[in-house]
Amino acid sequence: MLREKLQSKEARLGVIGLGYVGLPLSMEFVRAGFRVVGIDNDAEKVRKLGEGESYIQDVPSERVRAALDAGLFEATTDYAVLETLDAVDICVPTPLRKTKDPDISYVRSAVAEIVKYLHKQMLVILDSTTYPGTTDEVILSRLEATGLQVGEDFYLAFSPERVDPGNEEWTTRNIPKVVGGVTPACTEHAALLYSQTLGPVVPVSSTKVAEMVKLLENTFRSVNIGLVNEIALMSDRMGIDVWEVIDAAATKPFGFMPFYPGPGLGGHCIPIDPFYLSWKAKESGFEARFIELAGVVNGSMPYHVVSKVVDALNEIGRAIKGSKILVLGVAYKEDIDDVREAPALDVMKLLQEKGAVLSYSDPYVPTLHDGGFSLESSELTPQLLREADCIVITTAHSSVDYKAVVDSGTPVVDTRNALKGFSADHILTL
Ligand SMILES: NC(=O)c1ccc[n+]([C@@H]2O[C@H](COP(=O)([O-])OP(=O)(O)OC[C@H]3O[C@@H](n4cnc5c(N)ncnc54)[C@H](O)[C@@H]3O)[C@@H](O)[C@H]2O)c1
Repeated sequence: MLREKLQSKEARLGVIGLGYVGLPLSMEFVRAGFRVVGIDNDAEKVRKLGEGESYIQDVPSERVRAALDAGLFEATTDYAVLETLDAVDICVPTPLRKTKDPDISYVRSAVAEIVKYLHKQMLVILDSTTYPGTTDEVILSRLEATGLQVGEDFYLAFSPERVDPGNEEWTTRNIPKVVGGVTPACTEHAALLYSQTLGPVVPVSSTKVAEMVKLLENTFRSVNIGLVNEIALMSDRMGIDVWEVIDAAATKPFGFMPFYPGPGLGGHCIPIDPFYLSWKAKESGFEARFIELAGVVNGSMPYHVVSKVVDALNEIGRAIKGSKILVLGVAYKEDIDDVREAPALDVMKLLQEKGAVLSYSDPYVPTLHDGGFSLESSELTPQLLREADCIVITTAHSSVDYKAVVDSGTPVVDTRNALKGFSADHILTL
């Protein structure tokens, strides 16, 4: 029986989708002593992993190599392996379509493969972020169409991934894992797997609750960032330093949690997930106004940054057209290499449309082939800093020499308070 196999760690596990979520999760299963097969339809990723090469910053290659050497990990493009697996986690992307509607086609195609190999005493868990109802409405019906009965023949649960890439304190291993199964037996089996592997498990009463938990968390961030961005725009108009305000407010020991303004939302979660919720809420005739409003305010931030660049160039009698603008940091947040939905790309696009001559420097992103750009990172030399007409700090990586940025004398638009502590007329903040 599955329970015994999970308890004894004899269960053979599968992870579908070996990206920012699936690869660290696979490595945690391995660390716990399970044998794991990673399935990804990207043959290049599978090849790299087979050779012990990681492409995820939080997973060192040595870890992959050790897992391979121990015979506890293998990667494949072949779904047929599912036939031999006891449990499988689905960690595929859940992006938005251009219309901001959920695109769950990756989940559907992973499930279409699982259906072919579903067998008795198999546990299926969806980890991808999605709207409440996906597990029941999209997955359960397809799995039950095989004739197998949920809760008895197989088990199905939703367990949101909460990993924060680059965060060394809170990782896949110790972030509490929320689990909601279709039936109590489903919750129990999924909880058993995770309790053998990860931080504390938080069982909830249903898949829908577990799905909603993740969307509440990310909507909470999106709305609070929207609020603080609005306060930043307001403070700018009123001549108040919003960063000083936030730092002072954050001294309140209760009832306040600091969020920080910036050039816009980035990453694969915060700009996307709330729209999964607002889309689904519409089905119940509910308009999610906070989500939409936060989207509007956060979406306006790149334009505000461009208006700051206009101000900075104006001070030296220049226009954006033809000016050399150096963008510092294109990853969506500090000290990581992920450029998905990065607000720097929106800022760069707007500047390019106005005729700026763009270059960028990012120690984590040596080449940029996203957002219609094909650029190489420039080394951050005093000459590069001096020769720019304006510098825009869009992401504040901790390894950057910000004193050199200030010392260059080039006008700087600092959207991240990276130059906190420096005071000069040529520094503009949000
Ligand atoms: N990146 C994060 O920080 C983060 C945090 C929490 C939750 N999530 C959620 O986790 C899910 C995965 O995100 P991610 O960042 O790991 O994505 P990713 O793009 O890094 O990885 C997804 C992987 O799935 C593979 N894939 C796509 N379709 C497949 C299929 N049908 N079969 C097999 N493999 C397939 C891709 O090749 C890719 O390697 C998303 O729902 C995301 O919202 C992400």
